[in-house]
Amino acid sequence: MIVNPLSSQYLGFSIASPIVVAACPLSAKIENIEAMQEAGAGAVVLFSLFEESRINNGEPDSQYRVDRDSYLKLVEQASDLNIPIIASLNGTNLDHLSQMTMAVMEAGAHAVEYNPYHLPINLMRSGRDIEDELVEIATEMRAICQRPMAMKLMPTLSSPGYLAMVLDSTGIDGLVMFNRLYLPQVDTDSMELSRHVHLSHKEDSAWGIHWASLLHGKMNGSIIGNSGVEHAEQVLQYLLSGANAVQVASCLIRNGIDYITTLNRGLKDWMEHHECDDIPSIIGLLSEQRQADSAAQDRVQYMKSLHNFHSPYFK
Ligand SMILES: Cc1cc2nc3c(=O)[nH]c(=O)nc-3n(C[C@H](O)[C@H](O)[C@H](O)COP(=O)(O)O)c2cc1C
Repeated sequence: MIVNPLSSQYLGFSIASPIVVAACPLSAKIENIEAMQEAGAGAVVLFSLFEESRINNGEPDSQYRVDRDSYLKLVEQASDLNIPIIASLNGTNLDHLSQMTMAVMEAGAHAVEYNPYHLPINLMRSGRDIEDELVEIATEMRAICQRPMAMKLMPTLSSPGYLAMVLDSTGIDGLVMFNRLYLPQVDTDSMELSRHVHLSHKEDSAWGIHWASLLHGKMNGSIIGNSGVEHAEQVLQYLLSGANAVQVASCLIRNGIDYITTLNRGLKDWMEHHECDDIPSIIGLLSEQRQADSAAQDRVQYMKSLHNFHSPYFK
């Protein structure tokens, strides 16, 4: 029997690789989802169904990528493939989320990922209010969703570790850490604000890696790294820090779906070189070092990094 060294676990599913396709438009076509399976992805999170795209007065809203019926049709087709298909539901209204959850489960989604994307721009809302809302969504959806479910968190939280543990205690199966912020840019020519999606770079992985290493071993559910995977090295950094799997979008948008093969090959090469037999044995290997740091040591390291930085302009 040939054993796949990359086999792993994701929200309770056995998967072929810890590399999971993140929600993005690449999954809008069934042929692309087939290509993701072919290239060796562990699972696919479909692009989001937005609560705003629900049908108003009998008419689907045309500003969203697909209407609800087309989304459900895609879920139905994709769930026949041999790879876990995770529907992504985007919104914060509990009525809408519960209706959407029922619909995607009926269409055959193997699991659901909730993305309550929100920017804390309301000056009158406290951090506690925002975090309570996330816990309420997780609790309600856990009661409604009979399939494995994950929640995708924004990086703008005052205490991500504490919130992660509270969310974990609601019984959800995984936390995706972290979504990316899409902030408006100031265009100094047109003197207007513009919004563009920028693809990520490896530096964007630092925040997720940091929290994976602090949370490893403290949660029942999975830690799912998200943001900034450019090469297999970042996948390994997430896994060694404590993530159970890693989601990727930008690197596939930049290099094509087949880039999953390159990432998987990079993982295998590293495992061979380091004589590792399987993925579970490397998850969290380097988390202890991080967890041993106290807040005081952290400040010492912080001061040292600033003091040791050199430039010819520092006299
Ligand atoms: C073009 C594009 C579209 C995206 N659409 C969604 C989406 O529909 N729902 C969602 O939860 N995240 C969406 N994302 C965010 C990705 O799922 C992912 O969290 C983010 O890009 C960070 O991963 P990366 O660094 O590998 O790109 C999108 C990202 C990109 C670049």
